[in-house]
Amino acid sequence: MHKLGKRIPLDEMPPVPVYKLSHIVLRSADVGAARDWYMAVINARMVFEADDGMGCALTFDEEHHRLLIVGMPEKDVAAQRGLGTFFQQIDKRRAMSGLEHISFTYDGVGVWLANYKRCKKRGIEPVMCVNHGPVLSMYYLDPDGNSVEIQTDTMPMDQAFEFMYSDAFADNPIGAPFDPDELCARYEAGTPLREIASTGWE
Ligand SMILES: [Fe+2]
Repeated sequence: MHKLGKRIPLDEMPPVPVYKLSHIVLRSADVGAARDWYMAVINARMVFEADDGMGCALTFDEEHHRLLIVGMPEKDVAAQRGLGTFFQQIDKRRAMSGLEHISFTYDGVGVWLANYKRCKKRGIEPVMCVNHGPVLSMYYLDPDGNSVEIQTDTMPMDQAFEFMYSDAFADNPIGAPFDPDELCARYEAGTPLREIASTGWE
């Protein structure tokens, strides 16, 4: 028994999961390009920008900074250019262990598809679109070649867990590709959301 007001000794505290995932920090060869890209694709707002343009902080929710972009020294940018084209650099990075992608969720199929259309008008298009079952996902490459998933949930979390324990998911844990323009057309034509959610799984 501990006296009222006395703290539990740290060695006696039970382990608890971390409270939250706080932020992501990206290293960029062009901070301005990365900043503009994320402000467009996740509709983030800027909370800080370094005077020398070598870094900025963005957020889109209650967190003061969810995404930091830090610039690289010019010598590192030059060395990276020496590794080849944009896609050659990505291939080299993918041949090593590291972060695969980061994922952001839009709250609803409509706003998620509207964001796709907005980005497409700006020349930003996904490289891959997959219906994973519990989520519809579009995968983009940011200006530094990082893979970014923009998704929307298609079922409540309890149903998503149930789906992930199902035979259908065991048989196909990757999902089914879809055409985003076709999905936009179906959405605008009034196709029920449950049909849109099962795209490729019918
Ligand atoms: Fe993902």
